[in-house]
Amino acid sequence: MTPIRNKENFLVFGSPLIEEAEIDEVVACLKSAWIGTGPRVAQFEADFAAYKGTGHAVALNSCTAALHLSLLAADLGPDAEVVTTPLTFCATVNAIIHAGAVPVLADVDPATMNIDPNEIERRITPRTRAIVPVHFAGRSCDMDAIMDIARRHNLKVIEDCAHAIETEYKGGKAGTFGDFGCFSFYVTKNVVTGEGGMVLAKREEDIAHLKVLGLHGMSKDAWKRFGDQGFKHYQVVECGFKYNMMDLQAALGVHQLKRVEAYWQKRVQIWDRYVAAFSNLPVRRPSPVEAGTRHAYHLFTLLIDETRTGVSRDGFLNHMTAQGIGVGVHYLSIPEHPYYQKTFGWKREDFPNAMQIGRQTVSLPISAKLTDSDVCDVIRAVTHFITPK
Ligand SMILES: Cc1ncc(COP(=O)(O)O)c(C=O)c1O
Repeated sequence: MTPIRNKENFLVFGSPLIEEAEIDEVVACLKSAWIGTGPRVAQFEADFAAYKGTGHAVALNSCTAALHLSLLAADLGPDAEVVTTPLTFCATVNAIIHAGAVPVLADVDPATMNIDPNEIERRITPRTRAIVPVHFAGRSCDMDAIMDIARRHNLKVIEDCAHAIETEYKGGKAGTFGDFGCFSFYVTKNVVTGEGGMVLAKREEDIAHLKVLGLHGMSKDAWKRFGDQGFKHYQVVECGFKYNMMDLQAALGVHQLKRVEAYWQKRVQIWDRYVAAFSNLPVRRPSPVEAGTRHAYHLFTLLIDETRTGVSRDGFLNHMTAQGIGVGVHYLSIPEHPYYQKTFGWKREDFPNAMQIGRQTVSLPISAKLTDSDVCDVIRAVTHFITPK
């Protein structure tokens, strides 16, 4: 059978929609003689803070950097344990390790795929200092329950909002519940800057600290030192990192952010078409969105249970790729990886919900760049392989 799409028009998973305004801004930035951290980054920070309805945001070069610095700024102290989900990208767990803390996993709720507050409670010890919930796929975690646990045990909360720019929970915006909220603008995300990240923090002093930590530990506003306001000396006040965002990246971000809601609308439409098209297939579709919350519709996942479909998840991945449709796996659960097994003695079976999801999940393309006919191609490719039972 001829594939639905050939090699030349392979549908790249998560391909971003870059429009003329971004291209013009990048060119203007290149011609401006200031491509490093400067006024466009400051603009992007202000715009993002305004979008999230908070006063403070710090742009960095990734969400991984945002998580790392938030965990450092949270000042967790020695021998700290930090509870997070086994169903996440490795960056979440690695950031905890890089911050000098010990990651502790709490399994997910099988319906929401988000960390289960009862499991968090079960994993708390006298050394627990923080929780890192991940708003998986753009679905809000149960923030009432998580913030209640944090209050009762005096824990910091650092929200991993890599999937959750547009997510809301009971009227509040993702990233504004905890002490810190960390966002990603990686190429596949809902707003892209190539590589890029942003941190929100509740306390102004944390914002100031994050800025210092993100640029070598140099004193405040060190990026202004080459400007036209007179030469400025800087002082190194602690041992920081090189995590700053460039104006070249922010040039993309400022225009992408203007379209964040329009892109969200496009993804809602694609999501609804997938839900309708796959309603009679023997696969699990995403659970309905919880009342009082807003989903960011970052990932649309199907769970392929071989005992129901007669085809394996990996067979399905191969079929989609052969049909010219890029797909993703979000994620093989963290305890499936050898490094974590070796270092922490984690067993995949101890987190059965994350393990099962990780072995059955497939993410279909849902970027705002998809055309109507792209969406039709995805639906055709799925329904060729999996038939109603
Ligand atoms: C849940 C989650 N956390 C953190 C990250 C890291 O983001 P970045 O690539 O911007 O460092 C990602 C990126 O894919 C992610 O999906």
